[in-house]
Amino acid sequence: MTSTNDIRRSFLDYFEGQGHARVPSAPLVPHNDPTLMFVNAGMVPFKNVFTGLETRPYSTATSSQKCVRAGGKHNDLDNVGYTARHHTFFEMLGNFSFGDYFKEQAITHAWTLLTREWGIPAEKLTATVYHTDDQAFDLWKKIAGLPESRIIRIPTKDNFWAMGSDGPCGPCSEIFYDHGDHIWGGPPGSPEEDGDRFVEIWNLVFMQYLQENDVQIGELPKPSIDTGMGLERVAAVLQGVHDNYDTDTFKALIAESGALTGASTTGDNQASHRVIADHLRASGFLVADGVLPANEGRGYVLRRIMRRAMRHAHLLGAKDPLMHRMVPSLVAEMGAAYPELVRAQPLIEATLLQEETRFRQTLANGLRLLDEATQGLAEGDTLPGETAFKLYDTFGFPYDLTEDALRPRSISVDRSGFDSAMAEQKRAARAAWKGSGDKASDEVWYDIADELGGTEFTGYNGTEGEGQVVAIVKDGARVDKAGVGDAVTIITNQTPFYGESGGQMGDAGTITNDRLRAVVDDTSKPLGRLHAHHAKIDSGELSVGDTVKLSVDAVRRDAIRANHSATHLLHAALRKRLGGHVTQKGSLVAPDRLRFDFSHPSALTPQEIAAIEADVNAQIRHNEAVGTRLMTPEDAIAAGAMALFGEKYGDEVRVLSMGRGDDQHYSVELCGGTHVNATGDIAIFKIVSESAVSSGIRRIEALTGEAARQWLNARDERLKEAAAALKTSPDDVPARVLSLVEERRRLERELADAKKALALGGGGAAAPAGPEQIGGVNFVGQVLEGLDPKALRGAVDEARARIGSGVVALVAINDGRASVAVGVSDGLGLSAVDLVKTAVAVLGGQGGGGRPDMAQGGGPDGSKAGDALGAVRAALADAKAAA
Ligand code: ALA
Repeated sequence: MTSTNDIRRSFLDYFEGQGHARVPSAPLVPHNDPTLMFVNAGMVPFKNVFTGLETRPYSTATSSQKCVRAGGKHNDLDNVGYTARHHTFFEMLGNFSFGDYFKEQAITHAWTLLTREWGIPAEKLTATVYHTDDQAFDLWKKIAGLPESRIIRIPTKDNFWAMGSDGPCGPCSEIFYDHGDHIWGGPPGSPEEDGDRFVEIWNLVFMQYLQENDVQIGELPKPSIDTGMGLERVAAVLQGVHDNYDTDTFKALIAESGALTGASTTGDNQASHRVIADHLRASGFLVADGVLPANEGRGYVLRRIMRRAMRHAHLLGAKDPLMHRMVPSLVAEMGAAYPELVRAQPLIEATLLQEETRFRQTLANGLRLLDEATQGLAEGDTLPGETAFKLYDTFGFPYDLTEDALRPRSISVDRSGFDSAMAEQKRAARAAWKGSGDKASDEVWYDIADELGGTEFTGYNGTEGEGQVVAIVKDGARVDKAGVGDAVTIITNQTPFYGESGGQMGDAGTITNDRLRAVVDDTSKPLGRLHAHHAKIDSGELSVGDTVKLSVDAVRRDAIRANHSATHLLHAALRKRLGGHVTQKGSLVAPDRLRFDFSHPSALTPQEIAAIEADVNAQIRHNEAVGTRLMTPEDAIAAGAMALFGEKYGDEVRVLSMGRGDDQHYSVELCGGTHVNATGDIAIFKIVSESAVSSGIRRIEALTGEAARQWLNARDERLKEAAAALKTSPDDVPARVLSLVEERRRLERELADAKKALALGGGGAAAPAGPEQIGGVNFVGQVLEGLDPKALRGAVDEARARIGSGVVALVAINDGRASVAVGVSDGLGLSAVDLVKTAVAVLGGQGGGGRPDMAQGGGPDGSKAGDALGAVRAALADAKAAA
């Protein structure tokens, strides 16, 4: 038997041998089409090559493209498990010509591969052509020798293929395989065509036109070829089975699900095993391509697929989570062809385990409720929409899961009742919303979110992407269009722009297309669900419905990422150095700096700051990859994540782990922000300030990367300037400054001594003035300009020693102010305090005091110094006269 892997390989080998470039499958999340949820055909990655917007180094190509048809317009989810050929995930084999060959060569290739390479008997094959395509009809006759009865003209859109309402399109020709008359059904176009006997295996599209809004608007630059063959279908043909689920890959996965559950793979269980096998493939490939379960957008489609499989695992009697244990089989079957599956295996397993553990907790309760609610219902009845909504709201049962659960009993669900219960809940949430206080703008956001859902954020892994404009808000109201110079808020269905939240500032960048350039200076996140780009239109115009390219300023984002990751490392370092009482009290993550507030009773010492800074830098140098996982808040906290007290977390949280610790990561935190890939990307971490915010709360401000380098550089420049001024080298600046300070102290001392000596007339050539005699008492009275008031007492003592016994009064003048000191020898019966008070009064001061032998005071009016000494003389004379 030819294995599915062999068939894929031989298809690609054949076309490569015919000069086609072998192009690896593009990721499931489309990069070039914002209206598409998942890549759903082989030509999607080549769309712009067909239309001439993009050129490649080849004009013919072949690929085996991963496709998902679940969610969005092509939704096969509900049928999977119950039919022979529906899948959520499948592979489309294709060969493409971009203006190279056209119909004749395409038909020749298809016929040669099917009948010569693969040996399918010609009589088993039938072709269809678009009813007006005589050319294709004649080519089938000529090349394949098919009788006219087996070239069927089809007048419907079945034979006119279009990628979507916009994009390349053209008539097509389909090839059918006849599985034999033991199966009911007739050839295409016959009354029995809905039977399962004739199965379409290959579609050749003669791409010729371009359409917009389902209307042909022109021709492609050159006629081209797009073909698509379902690998699973052709594997069934080549392996001689009728049912895709009987091919080797599915048989292996179903056998594994049988072995792990112990449940027979036939009879009533068949559908459940098929669902598990199919959904395992979709889940594994979606996770490998970066989609994680969520409550909106692509993540919600993935969650619905996962939960549907998990309910079937439960139906089969699995007592424990099953899906993650199936992953090794998936990797064994498909990992060689898709290495991304091997790389992502741990993440796929962890995500499935997490989702199934969580889902199982509510599954039993939900199913009980469903049983009770359907007890009175019989075949053909309808379950009230409200009950389906309760299952969704309380137990996380997506709508289609409830439908699926009731299908075997032929009970349907009231969809409109479900929708109105959902609308009612939204209305109540809106009424309860306190919001920003700005009622008018909150209303606008609510309208947009209710109508269009939240914005899907695509910026965890990149900074560019396409989006479709779903709303434009100008001056607080929705508008359809905006033009040059308008300041508007733009909402798109998906965006790589991060909206300000969790302390991280919003992204800036540009929104463009061939008619528009708008500059985004900030992005906010109203209602926590919309990403609102605040922009100014530089040129062109913008309308709702436009497809735009969203480009985040990547340099700015990189700086923000580095600062955000550094904040996590800082938080961990603070706790390790200062203690577990340290908790985050606030943070700001900007492109140019970071700020982190935390609880701690006292200022950090320089040593503590240095140690914390060194710890963070050591983690940066370890350069370990930063890990991201999705978990429930409970599991995350059990795994050691630091959660913020009082913070409200959703059903699941992103858990960021980084750095190297003793037994686990250095830092594990719950965080929705954007982070570096590895800690080395932070480059440097520098604390530039530590201060108090309020009692018990400290604040650290720090820089990373280029900002830190510039800051350190600026410091170095200052040091060099100082060195130049000091006429020394930067290394010698501290020693030089110390010696200058020392020298200055010494010079000040010497200067003071010299002034004193000069003022007292001592120590120099001028002899000291002899004492006056007042009432028989020696008296020295002098005004000393510029004498340091601190030296005044010493000077009084010196003068008194010189005259033996007597009274000394000295006034020092500094900046116009006077300080006065009076000394009186023992035994004179005089009080220095009384005398000083006399002088102070004249100097315009108050009081004055000390001891009877030494008193001091001062006053503002230095110009009265002479008068003050006169007053002391008079008081001395009076006292002696009275004695
Ligand atoms: N693009 C074509 C299809 O998907 C081949 O059928």
